[in-house]
Amino acid sequence: MSEQSQSPKRESFAGRGAFILAAIGSAVGLGNIWRFPYVAYDNGGGAFILPYLVALLTAGIPILFLDYAIGHKYRGSAPLAYRRLNRKFEIFGWWQVLISIVIAIYYAVIIGWAASYTYFALTSAWGDDPKAFFFGEYLKMASDVGVGLDFVNGIVFPLLGVWILVITLLATGVQKGVGKVSVILMPLLTAMFSILVLYSLFLPGAANGLNALFTPDWGKLAQPSVWIAAYGQIFFSLSICFGIMVTYASYIKPKTDLSGSGLVVGFANSSFEILAGIGVFSALGFMAQNMGKEVSEVVTSGIGLAFIAFPTIIDQMPVGSTLIGVLFFGSLLFAGITSLISILEVVIAAVQDKTHFPRVKATLVVCIPLAILSTVLFGTATGLPLLDVLDKFVNSFGIVAVAFVSLLCIVFSGSLKPLAEHINNISSFKLGKTWQIVITGTTIVLGYMLVSELIKVINEGYEGYPSWFLGIFGYGMSIALIIIAGVLSLFKWKQEK
Ligand code: ALA
Repeated sequence: MSEQSQSPKRESFAGRGAFILAAIGSAVGLGNIWRFPYVAYDNGGGAFILPYLVALLTAGIPILFLDYAIGHKYRGSAPLAYRRLNRKFEIFGWWQVLISIVIAIYYAVIIGWAASYTYFALTSAWGDDPKAFFFGEYLKMASDVGVGLDFVNGIVFPLLGVWILVITLLATGVQKGVGKVSVILMPLLTAMFSILVLYSLFLPGAANGLNALFTPDWGKLAQPSVWIAAYGQIFFSLSICFGIMVTYASYIKPKTDLSGSGLVVGFANSSFEILAGIGVFSALGFMAQNMGKEVSEVVTSGIGLAFIAFPTIIDQMPVGSTLIGVLFFGSLLFAGITSLISILEVVIAAVQDKTHFPRVKATLVVCIPLAILSTVLFGTATGLPLLDVLDKFVNSFGIVAVAFVSLLCIVFSGSLKPLAEHINNISSFKLGKTWQIVITGTTIVLGYMLVSELIKVINEGYEGYPSWFLGIFGYGMSIALIIIAGVLSLFKWKQEK
């Protein structure tokens, strides 16, 4: 008897609609709202749209199809599905589970900050100096880099709130929890974000912001780092190659149009991303005009953009600033929650497949230790540098590395053809030979990206952090994930004879 027929009955999404909304909910997250606008601006503005679209069409959508095909054909969490594809590939599934664990523990913290700031927006609690408020009063950031135990209540309580919420949703099950929350939150998020973008477009100075974002700097296209940034953005943003789409696809009915769904998810995610770019840069244009500065002088990345620049912009708004503040941070919160549950689902599904624990038990066994770890590491005055380093390394040397190695093995083992056939048997959009050629080409590009980024970080370091810190939490963490994944793949599966 094959392993496939021995597994317990899998939960499933109510239908294709719930699956698509859950997949879009996973894709649209913090990466779209705060990461894309800055990455686009920093890498050539309007000219970035070209590498971005190339990355979407050559890596994003084709690998999304691949993830769907693996999860759907082999109906398992990442380790089980990869194992059923080829026994030797189980390690890739565990590697993806561990990457999801690392992302989940810091992702929850940022959602906790967004929750706090949704509340702060009601009274503009950040006062006249949002930067001093964020680092000083809110994070109470320590001056030294390290790991300490001086907990900050203002971070810990919202963080625990986020964990309790996601544990409750996840324990409720795939359709009742994950499916339902996506069906409610995604339309709400789209409405909230659309109001925000429309409002920003009418702010004085918005046009300057849009010019800054969309004026192409064609010279940048010659730089490899710009292409690397485009591929990196697509991977994180589309939630591909870290187990999520494999897991979600294992919860859909046998006759579901996979490639058609993938196209909807891929284009919805990118539309949201570009919408976010337009909203954020309109608002930055307004802020620059108000301060009598150039847009380039006020643009800032990730954390600075959401928690420093946005409060500054909100303070300067002529009307409706409280509403806009609540909408912005509320959007970040909702987008983050639907992505976090998808990241944790990767881990829960793997534990459930391996142990056959019932849903609630598996959720608690996974999430309680992670909630504690997340609080201990990031609920303190020393959490921010750690978050920064884990985020950088798990993306550059985690997701990209597992993508490269797993694709290489899939291509060379001849697994692409049967996966394409699986998709073609049930889907509207048929995959021809081109899909296999594109995946092969992308694998080579990923290998190049991985090596060049590694050389860059080895030579230049990262953000000036001490080498012991990068050694433990950057390189050490990245290598540990591979070793632990290898060990986990040695354990027997329950249904094995
Ligand atoms: N895809 C999720 C995001 O963009 C992880 O944040």
